[in-house]
Amino acid sequence: MKKLYINRHFQRVSLKEQIFHLGSVSFVFLLTASLLSGCVMSEEMRRIEAVKKAQRERDLEGSTNLTGEQIFVRSCNTCHPNGRAGLGPTLESLPSKFPEDAALKAFIRKGKGMMPPQSADRINDVELDSLIAYLRQLDFSK
Ligand code: HEC
Repeated sequence: MKKLYINRHFQRVSLKEQIFHLGSVSFVFLLTASLLSGCVMSEEMRRIEAVKKAQRERDLEGSTNLTGEQIFVRSCNTCHPNGRAGLGPTLESLPSKFPEDAALKAFIRKGKGMMPPQSADRINDVELDSLIAYLRQLDFSK
């Protein structure tokens, strides 16, 4: 004899029908749950991005706008003492090797080998301009 079950509408249904019903209910449930969590996730990602962006802006605001010379003493002088050779090479050939400011800036931002890269939160764009101006007026004739 076929065993019958009572479904939520108080109808008698077979085991197969009942299982099918539960299956589709849980499928809809899982689908909704995953869609919802997808929204929550991307909402969360947006929030994290916004926080990161605010943090970056704050870092730049908090930068000290040191002069070119101050930056040089702080970040370059250990390896290029007064622009001369030390751990790093002399900066005497700077005009011929980096006639363009853009290339020089890119080099300083990126670093090379032993020379550490300088990101915008270490030397901001204003400071980098000042640093370049300082490097350009270094006098090696003395
Ligand atoms: C830890 C040591 C170190 C520090 C700090 C450093 N440099 Fe250097 N620098 C080097 C080395 C080493 C090289 C040679 C890199 C190479 O060609 O492999 C170099 C190369 C250079 C060059 C290219 C010179 C040439 O003739 O090829 C320039 C320009 C330069 N540095 C500028 C700077 C400036 C500006 C700063 C400060 C923001 C700085 N460096 C900080 C070690 C350093």
